[in-house]
Amino acid sequence: MKGLILSGGKGTRLRPITYTGAKQLVPVSNKPILWYAIEEMAAAGVQDIGIVISPETGEEVRSKTGNGERFGVQIQYILQDKAAGLAHAVKISRPFLGDDPFLMFLGDNLIQQGDLSHFLEVFKSQQPDALILLREVDNPTAFGVAEVDPFGQVMRLVEKPKDPPSNLALVGVYFFSALIHEAIAQIQPSPRGELEITDAIQQLINTQKQVQARQLRGWWLDTGKKDDLLEANRLVLDTLLETCIEGNVDAASQVIGRVKIGKTSKVNNCTIRGPVIIGDDCHLENCFIGPYSSISDNVKLINIDLEHSVILKGASIVDINQRIIDSVIGRRCRLTAAPPRPKALRFLVGDDSHIEIT
Ligand code: DAU
Repeated sequence: MKGLILSGGKGTRLRPITYTGAKQLVPVSNKPILWYAIEEMAAAGVQDIGIVISPETGEEVRSKTGNGERFGVQIQYILQDKAAGLAHAVKISRPFLGDDPFLMFLGDNLIQQGDLSHFLEVFKSQQPDALILLREVDNPTAFGVAEVDPFGQVMRLVEKPKDPPSNLALVGVYFFSALIHEAIAQIQPSPRGELEITDAIQQLINTQKQVQARQLRGWWLDTGKKDDLLEANRLVLDTLLETCIEGNVDAASQVIGRVKIGKTSKVNNCTIRGPVIIGDDCHLENCFIGPYSSISDNVKLINIDLEHSVILKGASIVDINQRIIDSVIGRRCRLTAAPPRPKALRFLVGDDSHIEIT
């Protein structure tokens, strides 16, 4: 059984964060989203993994993730020259996949730990031509949607339908036999110009192949947008974070609940109410850091009040006298108080940024 993780694509929905980096490397609880998929595969016993990368962000993904040694797996990188669709990504991965069955995971999706092994067992024991995972959602128009009979056989699939046949969305995890390659060879690009994996699975159904579905039991998130990213961060901090204080916390600070503080970080006169993760080499002074905050390495926070936010590497936030909530602050961003007079706002803000001022 091989593993294929899709980590190419354009990442338009998480702009401006993704102008300068891969969306799959955006951290959730200070770990790149992509690494959760690799760890899940490793835990399920899938050790031969191909990662599809794009020309724009592939090098960053490759250099950060490496050859798989740190996860106990072997990783090969497969360059997709343009984001021509999920089925196109499978097509160009054929030399790596050969005729082996494989587990495909979208590199920007997160599922609850432990679920993959169970479904891998189902796929191995029942040997359908494809097994897809589904989850009920409130907004099915944003996903691939399935119509399933009472026995778990998939009857119809549609990608991002205007008029969804059900509220069962395709989670970005698929198990395929080698028959998927024949199906992909028979489909045409969709109206959005992509070779859709959803169409390829529909092609399997049309040719009387066996496509089964199971509903995911734990949580699932497609981290494509800011609020999804914050929710993923909340869920991971809630379920996986364990207390570990390696940095220096002075006597005037209070650390409450599950909090992780990395090496050589300094916390002076702060209240930190977990779950909170703080990376290495950070400097926090006179702050309140509220639940569900993830602070990456090398971040400086002085005189601020923060909650339910993700702060990326090298950012600095100083002297902001209003609470910051529900925010994602990009790498090396600087947020500072302006001089009191003349009273005005001054910005240097990247394209596609989103700022709310009251
Ligand atoms: O998140 C679940 C949804 O994922 C499913 O419900 C849909 O059926 C499926 O098509 C997919 O929809 P998205 O619009 O969310 O796919 P997205 O373009 O975000 O790509 C998903 C991942 O695959 C992401 O990590 C980028 C990568 N990718 C994408 C394309 C189009 C590639 O590696 N190559 C590509 O050509």
